[in-house]
Amino acid sequence: MRRLLLFGGLVFILVILGPIFVNGLNPSLNDDVLGLIVFKADVQDPHGKLASWNEEDDSPCNWDGVKCNPRSNRVSELVLDGFSLSGKLGRGLLQLKFLRRLSLAKNNLTGSLSLNLSQLSNLRTVDLSENGLSGPIPIDFFQQCGSLRSLSLAKNKFSGQIPTSLSSCSMLATMNISSNQFSGQLPAEIWSLYGLRSLDLSDNFLEGEIPMGIEGLSALRAINLHKNKFVGEIPDGIGGCMLLRSIDLSENSLSGGLPSSMQKLSFCNDLSLQSNAFTGNIPDWIGEIRSLEALDLSDNTFSGQLPTSIGQLRSLKLLNISTNSFLGVLPESMNGCVNLLVLDISHNSFSGNIPSWVFRLGLQQLIFSENRLVGSMENAFAASTENSRQKLVALDISHNTLSGEIPSAIGYFSSLQILNLSKNSLVAGIPSNIGELKLLDILDLSENQLNGSIPSEIGGVASLDKLILEKNFLTGDIPTSIGDCSMLTYLSLSQNDLTGPVPEAIAKLTYLQYVDLSSNKLTGTLPRELANLGRLLSFNISHNQLQGELPAGAFFNTISPSSVSGNPALCGAPVNRTCPIVLPKPIVLNPNSSDSAPGSIPTNFGHEKKILSISALIAIGAAVVIVVGVIAITVLNLRVRSSASRSAAALTFSGADDFSHSPSTDANSGKLVIFSGDPDFSTGTHALLNKDCELGRGGFGAVYRTVLKDGRSVAIKKLTVSSLVKSQDDFEREVKKLGEARHSNLVTLEGYYWTSSLQLLIYEFVSGGNLYKLLHEESGGNYLSWNERFNIILGTAKSLACLHQMNIIHYNLKSSNILIDGSGEPKLADYGLARLLPMLDRYVLSSKIQSALGYMAPEFACKTVKITEKCDVYGFGVLILEIVTGKRPVEYMEDDVVVLCDMVRGALEEGRVEECLDGRVQGKFPAEEAIPVMKLGLICTSRVPSNRPDMAEVVNILELIRCPSGSQDELG
Ligand SMILES: *[C@@H]1O[C@H](CO)[C@@H](O)[C@H](O)[C@H]1NC(C)=O
Ligand SMILES: *[C@@H]1O[C@H](CO)[C@@H](O)[C@H](O)[C@H]1NC(C)=O
Ligand SMILES: *[C@@H]1O[C@H](CO)[C@@H](O)[C@H](O)[C@H]1NC(C)=O
Repeated sequence: MRRLLLFGGLVFILVILGPIFVNGLNPSLNDDVLGLIVFKADVQDPHGKLASWNEEDDSPCNWDGVKCNPRSNRVSELVLDGFSLSGKLGRGLLQLKFLRRLSLAKNNLTGSLSLNLSQLSNLRTVDLSENGLSGPIPIDFFQQCGSLRSLSLAKNKFSGQIPTSLSSCSMLATMNISSNQFSGQLPAEIWSLYGLRSLDLSDNFLEGEIPMGIEGLSALRAINLHKNKFVGEIPDGIGGCMLLRSIDLSENSLSGGLPSSMQKLSFCNDLSLQSNAFTGNIPDWIGEIRSLEALDLSDNTFSGQLPTSIGQLRSLKLLNISTNSFLGVLPESMNGCVNLLVLDISHNSFSGNIPSWVFRLGLQQLIFSENRLVGSMENAFAASTENSRQKLVALDISHNTLSGEIPSAIGYFSSLQILNLSKNSLVAGIPSNIGELKLLDILDLSENQLNGSIPSEIGGVASLDKLILEKNFLTGDIPTSIGDCSMLTYLSLSQNDLTGPVPEAIAKLTYLQYVDLSSNKLTGTLPRELANLGRLLSFNISHNQLQGELPAGAFFNTISPSSVSGNPALCGAPVNRTCPIVLPKPIVLNPNSSDSAPGSIPTNFGHEKKILSISALIAIGAAVVIVVGVIAITVLNLRVRSSASRSAAALTFSGADDFSHSPSTDANSGKLVIFSGDPDFSTGTHALLNKDCELGRGGFGAVYRTVLKDGRSVAIKKLTVSSLVKSQDDFEREVKKLGEARHSNLVTLEGYYWTSSLQLLIYEFVSGGNLYKLLHEESGGNYLSWNERFNIILGTAKSLACLHQMNIIHYNLKSSNILIDGSGEPKLADYGLARLLPMLDRYVLSSKIQSALGYMAPEFACKTVKITEKCDVYGFGVLILEIVTGKRPVEYMEDDVVVLCDMVRGALEEGRVEECLDGRVQGKFPAEEAIPVMKLGLICTSRVPSNRPDMAEVVNILELIRCPSGSQDELG
């Protein structure tokens, strides 16, 4: 501890007083240990890389990153590359008098370079690259650097001028100060570093001309002035650096031609002069630089024809002369460049045919875009060999004047990743064997005169990233196989004559960002699943003949109007046309479809995808919820009013005691029909509507119990909607039809009684309560068991299926209309009464009949959607959920309204569907039955009518759920 304190004070003193004090310290303390400990104290070491540096050690020679000279035992190397050190470069280093190599690359050291390294007279290598050091290099930094061989300050934030004192480093062989912010002129003194082999000044702000005198650097192997602001010409003296292998002067503002002395650079492998302002021809002597492997002259103002001597560059692998003003034809001699891999002559004015030798050389990249090449590709391809075809990775002959067809031989270029033939005059179809190009990334055939359809083989190009076929004359459908190009991000088929629908398969391409299908003749509605494309940035379908609603959600909510304009039958907010109805499509269930064997249906409901689409529904269905909410309030208001009018009707009816007491009036003109042919009501008439025997009231009227002469009970329904009832003929026809519906789960209609002012329906009497009471009213702890519940669901489903088969829509499904007979069988009541109304007015239906909120299918809210038996399926779905959860379809909490199916859907989505099951159930819920049943309920409550199964399917599914193991055995 004392020593620590002492040490802390020591560091403090050292930092404050600097080297004078250090030099005067007790020499018995090892200078190196002290220096390194001081260095350590100056930096932060978040990963504890310097943990082995212990000040109590006598020698630092075993410390991490430290190496000593074995003879003197003094530190000779300090190599701490990538130690994640931050902080300052401390003075402690100056203690290491015998240091030869200092390497602190790839740390986070900051601050300026205040050390005077000249005090370390043995230093040979300094590498401070890849830190955050900044500020200028001190003028005296290099003053006594006679021993320095290698200096790297690359990738820091140094600024200011390069000090002329650099010339003192007479032994310097390697100097790299690239990627800093050095500015000013390059001091001519730099050329006095005769030992220099490698000079990298790239990526700074150096300016002015390159000073004369470079020829003195006879050992120079590599010079890199890339990305500075040098102007003027290449100094002629460069030819004196005869050992130069690599010259990079790219991205400056150099001008003039290539100095002729350069022809002496016969060892030069790499000459990069791109992005300058060089002018003139490529001189003939270029052929003398036999070692050239890469020649990049791109993006200059070179002009004229290519010299034939270029064919002598047999080592050449890369030739990039793009973006210049070259013209003429490529010299045939170039077929001598047998090692060429990349040939880029784009953006020039080369003319003539595509030389056939280019397909013989075995190139990897052939970039010929934006020239004046003519003729067909067929001839050029003819020279290709199997070997050369397999090597070509990129073929770009775009923006020329090619004619003829795309040769089907294109399919043999099996390594192609980029094929760009856009902006030519190619005709005929896209060869189908394009599907052989399994590695293709980019296919751009846009702006030609191609016709025919897009080959379905395109689906074989599974790696395709961009498919651009715009501005041709393509016809036919967009092949659905496009859905197999699963990597596609960019798809443009605009300005063709494509017909048919936008294939749903496009919605499978989850990486899609940019889609342009504009200006075609596409028809049909847009697949709703497109809303699942989460990465879309643009989706342009303007100027087609698409119709119906835009997909709702995500990208499509904010799609720009210009992306959808010019489709007169398209609707939705972006096109400023309201749609007839918002119909999100949550779940598609087709129990008959081949890929879902019947036995597997119940388990299938849990499939992740479907859960996802339920979540999508919840997001995009918000609009529907609002609509339903508004209607709910309307309906509630109406209910209040109609119940008021009903009590009025009841009062009138007590006045109609007239009827029961004096049957002579109305009763005489009345007509009684009993379907079974047993009209034995004579004694019962006066008691027919005895108020004491009232069983209940529904939307259509009160129901009374009456006992027939033979002792049989019947239920009599007095219709209170008489003002709405049709003519007698219509009434009788409809009632007879209802009377024909016979099923053990239906409450049988036995007959009717008709006068113009009073209509009665005579039903089978069912003892026992209704389902509503059993589910929602206190029954002394006597709740339904799962089996009973399932039975009720199944029985109700069967009765509905029976009705639908007879084209009778129930219209008024709810738990209070399901009577439970003595043996627990459900019997469905009150069916088809809407048929008795003169018109199937959905307003009347929703307000008068479908009085129980929550069962009402969403299409009731919409005038334009036809009401079909699918509205019963919806009500049935709600009923299922009600039975399984024991909750009302809509529960009114203190300050909240909970809609049952939304709640279950949410729970299912969050994977806690089991919490929804009715806790009061007798016995246990078998989850393997209850959960599929609940999912079936959700499917039945799909917002889109066509997505709901029909009742016959529902019955099938329920029967499969009941004995899942059995059917699975069958299906094996
Ligand atoms: C430098 O520090 C930053 C955060 O300060 C860290 O993210 C980065 O990895 C560090 N670099 C090195 C080379 O340690
Ligand atoms: C194909 O070439 C044309 C013309 O040279 C160019 O504009 C286009 O960007 C290229 N296509 C792709 C996908 O790179
Ligand atoms: C969609 O395409 C049409 C026709 O090609 C164009 O006018 C419009 O600007 C495009 N819209 C967007 C958002 O790209």
